[in-house]
Amino acid sequence: MVTNDNRHVISVADPVAMATAAAERVIIRISENPGRIAICLTGGSSPKQLYQLLATEPWRSKIPWQRVHWFIGDERFVPSDDPLHNMGVARKLFLDQYAPASNVHPIPTSVADPTDPDLGAALYEGELKSFYGADELDPARPLFDLVLMGVGPDGHTASLFPGYPALDEVKRWVVGVPKANVEPFVPRITLTLPTLASCREMLFEVAGADKRAILTQVFAGENLPANRARSSGETVWLVDQAALPENFRG
Ligand code: 6PG
Repeated sequence: MVTNDNRHVISVADPVAMATAAAERVIIRISENPGRIAICLTGGSSPKQLYQLLATEPWRSKIPWQRVHWFIGDERFVPSDDPLHNMGVARKLFLDQYAPASNVHPIPTSVADPTDPDLGAALYEGELKSFYGADELDPARPLFDLVLMGVGPDGHTASLFPGYPALDEVKRWVVGVPKANVEPFVPRITLTLPTLASCREMLFEVAGADKRAILTQVFAGENLPANRARSSGETVWLVDQAALPENFRG
């Protein structure tokens, strides 16, 4: 493990090893909390293997499904059965098989108005606040046990894009993003940086040679969303060999 600016970078061989390492961290975070557990999932392709693993042994039996609540860090305005729907993918790959329906908390893009994504954002913010039991985040009591994240080619994370106002939001927990910076160019809803930061662990998964250039910029400290996303607890980056920047190679 290499420590880079208050962030732990763990290199793994390939996407298969990355999914296993991520599953281990999910189980550790779960085992540390004997009460109600909150996990914030992410979209994109990177977490898919992890989601598949969580639906198989030995992982499936290690999850106390009745006690775990599943949220999502951002959502796209596409139909819920579209392969680009973030929570739809997680549901299909593992949640619908094992998680009680009342423990799955999708962002309500199917009922919200895509021309005013802030309305749907306010609904989800209300749901998060009601789950948390307060309107203000208390640093001593993180909202999430674990927040999963990925990084896009422009350095975005969740649906927080470089230069967008959503990135600087400090009051609202969830905001609408009228148009994305990358495909699919549909409106989005995203949790804001302070909300994502309210966790015991923020875990990035990054794999593939096409991620190496942006990762080099992020780890060099450039002002990019993925660099500004930090946990109030531990921030961990799982990076496979193909994505690992030159100066992180052993
Ligand atoms: C989204 C995602 C986004 C994603 C990155 C990485 O809805 O677009 O939440 O932030 O994590 O773009 O995506 P890949 O895993 O597909 O590279």
